[in-house]
Amino acid sequence: MGLVDVSRLPQHVAIIMDGNGRWAQGRGEPRTAGHERGADAVRATMRAARRLGIPALTLYAFSEQNWDRAPAEINALVDLLCECLVSERDELVDNEIRLSAIGRLHKLPQHAQARLRSLSSETELHKGMTLTLALSYGGREELIDATRTLASKVRDAEIDPNDIDEAALARLLPSMDVGPVDLLIRTGGEQRISNFLLWGSAYAEFYFTDELWPDFDANSLYYAIEAYQGRERRFGLVPGAEDGASPGAAGHELERAI
Ligand code: IPE
Ligand code: IPE
Ligand code: MG
Repeated sequence: MGLVDVSRLPQHVAIIMDGNGRWAQGRGEPRTAGHERGADAVRATMRAARRLGIPALTLYAFSEQNWDRAPAEINALVDLLCECLVSERDELVDNEIRLSAIGRLHKLPQHAQARLRSLSSETELHKGMTLTLALSYGGREELIDATRTLASKVRDAEIDPNDIDEAALARLLPSMDVGPVDLLIRTGGEQRISNFLLWGSAYAEFYFTDELWPDFDANSLYYAIEAYQGRERRFGLVPGAEDGASPGAAGHELERAI
């Protein structure tokens, strides 16, 4: 924790939690054993983020494309989600964590939707940290849904096409409720975005680690934040420009104002 300067925390950390299957296979266990251990890593990461004072943590738990996996793995993941929504309830309540979910949630089984709704509404006034689960989520799908909404508004003459700007579109993206991503972490060794937060990651700092998700813990998060704090964010501006504009501050304000 000493690695981290708590006065310069990323305001929104997003994580592609990858490598559960390989973690299990490396031990001769079924992939689902990796997902179960992955839930422990979620708990450790959520606690560490909350303790540091990070306002928003978004976790990629299940993508739109993951629906094409074997039904047994999908069922195991849904069951695990439902169990965690019960077992972690006290943790969220005790630590003032607000639960939110993004994605095409209507594709989840009814009982999973009901548990998500119930814990989200129970925690909706919590101010400690917003934990967003991306479930049945795809960045392209989110943009398609927003585009459909905008097209309907244009058709109904509620908005002029010339008034569609970044702010108008961002308002229709549920992932942007907690603002743009500052730090995007991917475990499991792959260096790709796999249809995660396409819009909100436009100026995110990326941190890739070979560590498999079930091995990720509080220290792993501190290392990622330490790396983030060593980066210079420019937002398209020029460092040390004559007009004195600091790219870090000016760009960040610009980004967050949208
Ligand atoms: C990430 O781990 C969890 C989900 C995608 C649900 P994987 O299941 O993708 O694990 P690997 O990448 O096959 O090791
Ligand atoms: C991304 O991991 C999705 C989640 C972590 C939920 P995947 O394992 O599905 O991504 P690819 O297939 O390696 O791109
Ligand atoms: Mg994977």
